[in-house]
Amino acid sequence: MSAVNVVILAAGQGKRMYSKCPKVLHRLAGKPLLGHVLDTARQLDPSRLVVVYGHGGDQVQAAFAGQEDLGWAHQAQQLGTGHALQQAVSQLEGDVTLMLYGDVPLTRRSTLRALLDASHGGALGILTDVLEDASGYGRIVRDAAGNVLRIVEQKDCTQDEAAIREMNTGILALPTARLAGWLAELKNDNAQGEYYATDLIALAARDGVRIATVHPDHHWEAEGINNKLQLATLERIHQGEVARALLTAGVGLADPARIDVRGTLKHGQDCLIDVNCVFEGEVVLGNDVEIGANCVLKNVKIADGVVIHPYCHLEDAEIGANSLIGPYARLRPGAELAADVHIGNFVEVKKSTIGSGSKVNHLSYIGDTSMGAGVNVGAGTITANYDGVNKFRTTIEDGARIGSNNVLVAPVTIGAEATTGAGSVIGKDAPAGKLTVARARQVTLDGWQRPVKIKK
Ligand code: UD1
Ligand code: CA
Repeated sequence: MSAVNVVILAAGQGKRMYSKCPKVLHRLAGKPLLGHVLDTARQLDPSRLVVVYGHGGDQVQAAFAGQEDLGWAHQAQQLGTGHALQQAVSQLEGDVTLMLYGDVPLTRRSTLRALLDASHGGALGILTDVLEDASGYGRIVRDAAGNVLRIVEQKDCTQDEAAIREMNTGILALPTARLAGWLAELKNDNAQGEYYATDLIALAARDGVRIATVHPDHHWEAEGINNKLQLATLERIHQGEVARALLTAGVGLADPARIDVRGTLKHGQDCLIDVNCVFEGEVVLGNDVEIGANCVLKNVKIADGVVIHPYCHLEDAEIGANSLIGPYARLRPGAELAADVHIGNFVEVKKSTIGSGSKVNHLSYIGDTSMGAGVNVGAGTITANYDGVNKFRTTIEDGARIGSNNVLVAPVTIGAEATTGAGSVIGKDAPAGKLTVARARQVTLDGWQRPVKIKK
């Protein structure tokens, strides 16, 4: 395989997004549009990967800071796609230069591979598509024998040309060695007063360079984003493809139209996902995991046999095998649950380890806590981990039973097999194996009388 350069045009402003965010930084499936194009480009192992930037350049560069394989080419004024390409030419070195757009996020690697294969040996490759109505796009003009002669832009079309249904997706594979010369020949004497990259095709035809065309498998692979309607449309197409891949790989989805994956979702066998779940970052499901409706999971690792009941919010957490979570549970960063743990409704867990078989079933906050195995935490219990300035840890040893409505004022340790009475405020360590009660003693006052209404 010959060496490939990739140039991504991303200098446009994206006025129709009506946003202060540069267009290529708008997100599809949680990732900037340009990030999708870069990921696909990298799958082609390019020797040079160059982004042409302009509008919102600082923001665009900052969003991809530290990506050492990226070259940047500044286009101060947007004088056309040919002019944009010209800004990158000095950074190119390989045989073929693939020109992509930063606002066309869903092109498949296989399609680009096919285009590169078709342009092998010095040919020029155009990714074209045949549409019912190609208006708005550049049209592919061929001679009687079917050879491509040139591309004509919508605004420069004659009536006959406007009837052509084969359109230019904009994605080109160009012979690098010829580029500098051809680009220097581009003129802007056209309807838009721009330097068109599409005029390279006529120059190639003049110079006897073979011109090949390839179609994508799906129209949406070449669709670009100019406004939020198109962004939302491509988001749904992308999510539909993700759902299809999950179902095909054996994941049960209650409704493939009601799942959003904004990252990666790995899974074992026989997982079931109910409607309206959102997966962000890296989520890993073991075997036989069930996820109820309306859950949001971000960077979570879930072992075999876990059931997540509806309406849970889980982030940066690990859940051991056969645990039961929710409904309405919140696991915050650093929640590490061993096997067979039960976390019930309206329970929040943060930066805490919970040992196997332990249960926190109702209305509790467990933060900065090391909890052993077989612990039972009564309803309404709070670890008071914060004095307003510093955070302290709570330790609850194996087999402890915390009564309902306890406040465990950290730093504090509840010993193994200890029991605390309901309503206790535990500010000192509770010894192992004993009952500790820390609440006002109940008194009954004899001779007390109810107040009576004072007459005015
Ligand atoms: C371009 C093609 C057209 C094709 C269409 C597909 C040209 C002249 N025309 O038209 O044949 O059918 O795409 O969508 O190439 N850009 C820059 N700098 C510039 C101009 C554009 O970086 O000076 C970037 C834009 O940000 C955008 C991409 O290039 O990502 C395409 O530019 P756009 O103006 O949308 O091209 P079209 O007129 O749609
Ligand atoms: Ca466009």
